[in-house]
Amino acid sequence: MEKKKVAWGITGSGDRLIETVEVMKEVKRAYEDEVEVKVYLSKAGELVVKYYKLLNDLNENFGKIFVEKGPNSPFLAGQLQMGKFEFLLIAPTTSNTVAKISLGVADSLLSNSAIMALKAFVPVYIMPSDYEEGTIVTKLPDGRDLRLRIRKEDVEHVRKLAGMDGVFILEGPEDILKVFDKHFRTAARRPQNIRREDQGDPSASTSSRDQSLVS
Ligand SMILES: Cc1cc2nc3c(=O)[nH]c(=O)nc-3n(C[C@H](O)[C@H](O)[C@H](O)COP(=O)(O)O)c2cc1C
Repeated sequence: MEKKKVAWGITGSGDRLIETVEVMKEVKRAYEDEVEVKVYLSKAGELVVKYYKLLNDLNENFGKIFVEKGPNSPFLAGQLQMGKFEFLLIAPTTSNTVAKISLGVADSLLSNSAIMALKAFVPVYIMPSDYEEGTIVTKLPDGRDLRLRIRKEDVEHVRKLAGMDGVFILEGPEDILKVFDKHFRTAARRPQNIRREDQGDPSASTSSRDQSLVS
């Protein structure tokens, strides 16, 4: 049986990058038999992944890594529109890429791919780095903490995306597993080799915000 494919886009966001890679490795293990995850890095994504020394980890776990040359190179947008992928996941997503998708600016690999996927009724899951107004403390590659302001302008773009047909906003890396469960889990089988808080009804412990994710 041919595996189903998922496109995973990584933008140039250091915030929760390490946690996201860890969750995606779990997801890959859990769905290894049915799903192939292909990784696409924005140009800044490549830089940040190298900065956090994660490129080898990604290579070892996900095979060939595709790096942005332009909005249509590699030709992810076209492949999404041709139905080659079940969905596009962008995690983590910089405020830059969130703003572009929110405004319909399709001039980079991942903003273009998201917008073209939406035009072709392919779902797009976005985990923004700037989710809630306030301050966050993020980890630098050397382990030091960095305090950052989440601007209301960036959060407004996230809100606009949340209201878009076909876009689903993920609050954190832990939501990613629910997305794979929603698309690929069969009633008869649930992966045993993954950590989950809610082993029963997948919607039992979700907030009203992410009901759409699991319904
Ligand atoms: C080490 C590093 C970490 C960064 N972390 C973030 C981040 O957490 N969130 C964010 O919005 N931008 C972050 N940036 C800035 C983005 O990489 C930058 O805005 C870039 O233009 C985004 O391009 P992209 O959206 O095409 O990936 C970071 C940059 C560097 C060098």
